[in-house]
Amino acid sequence: MPELQEVAYENLSAILALRVKDTQQGLVASAERTVAQTAYAPFTWTRAIFEGRKAVGLIALVDMRPDHPEVEPEDPPDAVYLWRLMVDAAAQGKGYGRFAMQAAFAQARTWGRGTFCTSVVPRDDSALVFYERFGLRPTGRIIDGELFLQGPVPAD
Ligand SMILES: CC(C)(COP(=O)(O)OP(=O)(O)OC[C@H]1O[C@@H](n2cnc3c(N)ncnc32)[C@H](O)[C@@H]1OP(=O)(O)O)[C@@H](O)C(=O)NCCC(=O)NCCS
Repeated sequence: MPELQEVAYENLSAILALRVKDTQQGLVASAERTVAQTAYAPFTWTRAIFEGRKAVGLIALVDMRPDHPEVEPEDPPDAVYLWRLMVDAAAQGKGYGRFAMQAAFAQARTWGRGTFCTSVVPRDDSALVFYERFGLRPTGRIIDGELFLQGPVPAD
């Protein structure tokens, strides 16, 4: 059974070793970059996914609360933004992405948010269809060249 772990001294090396497939380069930032950025960005929630002692994935959310410095007028007013999601190349296709999405929705409910959003690189091998399985849909907005997706936070 997978579990969530906060980034810490004890598990940092395992988390920094996470890699997507070579063909997936450019779809998501590296684990190193995510760990560094989320340590300093406001209102974030970052968790590694572990299966036993093995790191299998990394997820980062942002609570887009009204006082967040990067919230824009066109952003939904009660949103959580999925900033990063990666599952290690060797661990993909085993349900860890789904586990991560369920954990993300649970955190969104903890924050009291009703809208979930993210963005994907416009490539055929992007995670668009994966996100559509969780109720996210393209809104037509393009942010920094990425397709903006949005959907409701499901009830528990
Ligand atoms: C997208 C990603 C997180 C999915 O993780 P995963 O652990 O392989 O996904 P799961 O095994 O939990 O799959 C859950 C379901 O989604 C489907 N799925 C997974 N990746 C998919 C994709 N890219 N496109 C369509 N369906 C996908 C699975 O077949 C599975 O379907 P099922 O429930 O009918 O069996 C992972 O492939 C990844 O890290 N990709 C590279 C980085 C990336 O694109 N991240 C998103 C940045 S926006």
